[in-house]
Amino acid sequence: MADDNEPIRKKGFILNFQTKKLQEIDDKNIINKPRSVECYEKMNILGQGTYGICYRVRDKQTKKEYALKKVKVDKDLFRDGFPISCLREISILKKCNHENIVKLKEVAVGNELQKIYLVMEYCEQDLASLLDNLKKPFTESEVKCIIIQLLRGLEYLHSKYIIHRDIKVSNLLLTDEGCLKIADFGLARTFSVPTKPMTPNLVTLWYRPPELLLGSTTCTTSVDMWAVGCILGELLINKPLLPGTGEISQLDMIVDLLGTPSENIWPGFDQLPACQNFTLKQQPYNNLKAKFPFLSQAGIRLMNFLFMYDPKKRATAEESLSSSYFKEPPLPSDPRFMPSFPHHRNLKSQSSTSSSSSIFASGSKQQQNLNPSRNKFSEMLEGLAKKRKRYE
Ligand SMILES: Nc1ncnc2c1ncn2[C@@H]1O[C@H](COP(=O)(O)OP(=O)(O)OP(=O)(O)O)[C@@H](O)[C@H]1O
Ligand SMILES: [Mg+2]
Repeated sequence: MADDNEPIRKKGFILNFQTKKLQEIDDKNIINKPRSVECYEKMNILGQGTYGICYRVRDKQTKKEYALKKVKVDKDLFRDGFPISCLREISILKKCNHENIVKLKEVAVGNELQKIYLVMEYCEQDLASLLDNLKKPFTESEVKCIIIQLLRGLEYLHSKYIIHRDIKVSNLLLTDEGCLKIADFGLARTFSVPTKPMTPNLVTLWYRPPELLLGSTTCTTSVDMWAVGCILGELLINKPLLPGTGEISQLDMIVDLLGTPSENIWPGFDQLPACQNFTLKQQPYNNLKAKFPFLSQAGIRLMNFLFMYDPKKRATAEESLSSSYFKEPPLPSDPRFMPSFPHHRNLKSQSSTSSSSSIFASGSKQQQNLNPSRNKFSEMLEGLAKKRKRYE
C-alpha cells in the first residue's frame, strides 16, 4: 500500500488518487519519452568538437539519415543534475524552426544516465572541412548565397532573443541542396533587455569581436555580426581573415586591418577593462580596400558596417540583408544551383561501415579498436580539425 506522504520513487509509476495505489503508467500516456540510441545504426564520425563527437547515423526503422551528437557529460557535473550547457542547447534548438537553423529531431538516451545524444537533421557538409578540401574557391555569387542564408538564420535567432556566440565556419553546415544551417548551440544564450553581464571569453578567437577581446561583459547580438564579417572575408579570400595566435595578436590583426579605435568613434572604449592597463598599437588606416581590391564599393561598405568597432553601430542581420551588395552583380546564386561537393567526411569510412554497428553504449575507444579503417578515418579527421583548430 502506498504511503500518501512518501514521494514516489518507483520509475514509470503514478499514484492513483482514487484508489490511493501505485499504478503502472501505460506507454501510450507517456509523452516525449526519450528513445534509446540503439534505434540508430552508426555509420561514421562527422566531426569531433570540444563538447562531443558527432556521428552520421541511420534510423533502423525508417532508414533515414541523421547526425547524432554525443554530448560530453562529466560524471561529477551530472551529480548536480542535468548539465546546464546541454539543457541550453536542447531548449534553444527546440525553440527554433527556420530553414537556416539545424533541426533537432529528438534527444536519445544510452544505457547509462549520463549518456545523452542529440539527433539532428543530417547535413552533408560543414563549411570548415569544405573550405579545407575545396579545389577552387567559392565564386562571389556563391559567397553571397552562403552569407545571405547565414544572415537569415541570424535574423531569426536575434528576433527570438537568442545570441549564438560561436559563429564560425565549423558550426555552419551545408546540405547537398545548397541550404546553409547554423549548428552548435552549446554556447548560445537567450538575452533580455537590458542585457546582463556574460563571460567575455566565448566566441572562438578568430571570430571574436574587439569588445570581448578588451574585456567587455556585455554580450549582444552584435557579437554574432562581427563573426559574419570574418566569415564573409574568409570566404572571399579563401583563408581565415584574422587568424590570431592569442588575444594580443588577435587585437593586433584587427587594428592592422581596420585602424586603431578611439573614444571618438567608439564611445565607452576608454572605459573597457583591458584599456585600463594596455595600449593598442597605433595604426591610422583602414586597410579593407587594400585587403579586398576586387570588392565593389557596396561590398566594402557592408564589410565596414559589420566591422564597426562600436557594437551599438555594428550592422544588424536585418540591415545587412538589405545591403546593395546582394542586389548588384554578380548576383547571389540560387541555393539549388550551388555546386555539390564530394562527401569528404564519409568517403573513407563508407567501406568500413559495418551493418550492425549498435555500438553507442560500449564506448568509442573500444569501438575504434574493432575497426582499423575507422581508426585511420578518425586520424584523418583529427588532422583536418587540427589544421583549423591550431589557433582556436
Ligand atoms: N547536423 C549535422 N550534420 C552534419 N554534421 C554535423 C551536424 N552537427 C554537427 N556536425 C559536425 O560535427 C562537428 C561538431 O559538432 P558541433 O559543432 O555541434 O560540436 P562541438 O563539440 O560543439 O564543436 P566545437 O566546440 O568544435 O565547435 C561539426 O563541426 C560538424 O562537422
Ligand atoms: Mg562546433
